[in-house]
Amino acid sequence: MASVSTTHLLKMKGAGEKIVAVTAYDYPFARLADEAGADLILVGDSLGMVVQGQKNTLPVTMEEMLYHTRMVSRAAQRALVVGDLPFLSYQADVREAVRNAGLFLKEAGAAAVKLEGGATVTEAIRAMVDAGIPVQAHIGLTPQSVHAMGGYRVQRDEERLLADAHQVAEAGAFSVVLEGIPAAIAERITRELAIPTIGIGAGVHCDGQILVMHDLLGLNLGYMPKFTRMFADLKAETLKGFRAYGDAVRSGEFPGPEHSY
Ligand code: KIV
Repeated sequence: MASVSTTHLLKMKGAGEKIVAVTAYDYPFARLADEAGADLILVGDSLGMVVQGQKNTLPVTMEEMLYHTRMVSRAAQRALVVGDLPFLSYQADVREAVRNAGLFLKEAGAAAVKLEGGATVTEAIRAMVDAGIPVQAHIGLTPQSVHAMGGYRVQRDEERLLADAHQVAEAGAFSVVLEGIPAAIAERITRELAIPTIGIGAGVHCDGQILVMHDLLGLNLGYMPKFTRMFADLKAETLKGFRAYGDAVRSGEFPGPEHSY
């Protein structure tokens, strides 16, 4: 059972303590993120791109999200586990949205869900919160709207961003992810909202930060956005390990007597 709760995150904001959030999609990496002290682990639908090798997040299904969320929930001892509602699991119908959100808690062990959108999803947020499901909102550059945005573009409409932020907070979201927006706007939203903001490509003034695990660990095999940083190079380490294994097998050096029965 996670010891970080949504109210704990609210207290962290109050105390000016930065919230560390990260994505994870399976048991070993979620265990390591948890052991390293992450406060929040998001099972993001970014798994469509970094795990499944898809072009965008749109094809990811509820079934796939629940499958990965189960692994992460099993691993997290302390961090709050948030399951990401995939495209079309909450946009079409509020009752369906509540049912899908509830499945993350009921069948996958998550403590909360995340959905993308501002003013357009407040009805769904309210209904989920009424059903006892904590909701994290996500505004700004929302990857599920990649086609509507004409690509992954920084969002700069300050009035709209402020309105979206206030409306998701009023609807009952416990936190809001701010993605791909100017730092000055993120700073204003963070100052005006009582709930914690978690930034990704939104500058240093957010109450916390989130990065996609594959980007920060050097496992991103494609495009690295400007806002991310590689804190470790697991791609190089992984290639080194696979190559050393291949060399040892080819040369007959592995397995040695100590590995044989
Ligand atoms: O899907 C995801 O991983 C996300 C984060 C990048 C916020 O939405």
